[in-house]
Amino acid sequence: MISAEQNEFLTRTGPRTPMGDLFRRYWIPALLASELPEPDCAPVRVSLLSEKLIAFRDTSGRVGLMNELCPHRGVSLWFGRNEENGLRCPYHGWKYDVNGNCVEVPSEREDFCKRVQVKSYPVEERAGVIWTYMGPPELRPELPSFEWMELPASHVYLSKRWQESNYLQALEGGIDSSHVSFLHSGDLGRDPLHKGTAGSKYALSTKTEFDVMDSAGGLLIGARRPAEEGQYYWRLSQWMMPWYTLIPPYKGNALNGHAWVPMDDENCMAWTMTFHPTRPLTDEERALMDAGHGVHPILVPDGSFRPVANRDNDYLMDREAQKAKVVYSGIKGIAIQDSSLQESMGPIADRTNEHLVSTDKAIVMARAKLRKSALEVQEGGTAPGLDAAGQRVRSASFILPVDEPFRDTALEAQQVRIGEPFVAV
Ligand code: FES
Ligand SMILES: [Fe+2]
Repeated sequence: MISAEQNEFLTRTGPRTPMGDLFRRYWIPALLASELPEPDCAPVRVSLLSEKLIAFRDTSGRVGLMNELCPHRGVSLWFGRNEENGLRCPYHGWKYDVNGNCVEVPSEREDFCKRVQVKSYPVEERAGVIWTYMGPPELRPELPSFEWMELPASHVYLSKRWQESNYLQALEGGIDSSHVSFLHSGDLGRDPLHKGTAGSKYALSTKTEFDVMDSAGGLLIGARRPAEEGQYYWRLSQWMMPWYTLIPPYKGNALNGHAWVPMDDENCMAWTMTFHPTRPLTDEERALMDAGHGVHPILVPDGSFRPVANRDNDYLMDREAQKAKVVYSGIKGIAIQDSSLQESMGPIADRTNEHLVSTDKAIVMARAKLRKSALEVQEGGTAPGLDAAGQRVRSASFILPVDEPFRDTALEAQQVRIGEPFVAV
């Protein structure tokens, strides 16, 4: 349980909030590169940290990300005409380039437009993602170097879904490894991208104990369950600042991670990255992920990234499947199992009435680290986890004798060795 003030502090990420200032020190995954598939394609609305933006790809292929509203009289540039290296407002024809410079105001003298500027942010296109940096220009870090960003496109599958909740309850779901044995238990035996491994059997045990370590980038989280006699099954997940989590793998399957990116205080974008360090993902795996298996969603095909199963249709709850324990919560699909419950907490979860227990240890530590980092940035300090040391880590799963310490094996297993196998059972 935390105070109302602490909850406000952690969940507000708009301009001039402490958490918003912290998050503006990191590169942010803004949109999939495929959302702007070709030069002069349609512009796309983007919401990040309570700022409404517009993204477009110009005639030369460059991407711009700028304030959504035209500086003339505030029309949304989503209606804009994308033409000849600029986005033209359809109301009175003012035109802007990818850097937000006004390049033409048809009604005025030529030099008038030099005084007009749309606020814009720098972008980089890397690993299928258009990244942006919304912080002080002089503090702009290197692009992150997560493992999935270093692999060939053939080894990676990306998706994103709009979640109608604050980012923090979504991130906490990614950190909370104990809910897997309940909420996702039906899928461990059934989902084609999870079933049939030793790990998926042991992960069903609800006797979870945690060993959580502070790490360079965030937290290294060990969850221990009984395996065969005299052994523990360990699942190692990662939280990397500010909003990235890695799911422990099941042998033979790819690795999975998420980014929980605030759109505004009551909505976030849940990104999912599936990647295999040593082989391309197969056509079958891609088809399964397209169809909502693994940890990916099925989306309404309207560009909103809203899942087909959403709050308006009670997430297609199936009470028969729930009763039969075919699907533990009655909601199909791991991604929607998470979103349904996390959205049910309300747009911003009230943390003043919680009853936290030992399995919530990593969540408590993550909140403390977020708060501390935001306070340090307010006092002129640097944000943690900006360098490669904090980003080049892996999740893992392994079995150890009960008397063998987790930490040594974990520190070894989390090392990223590009192109080399990861540790999984
Ligand atoms: S409102 Fe955009 S040109 Fe007038
Ligand atoms: Fe989950």
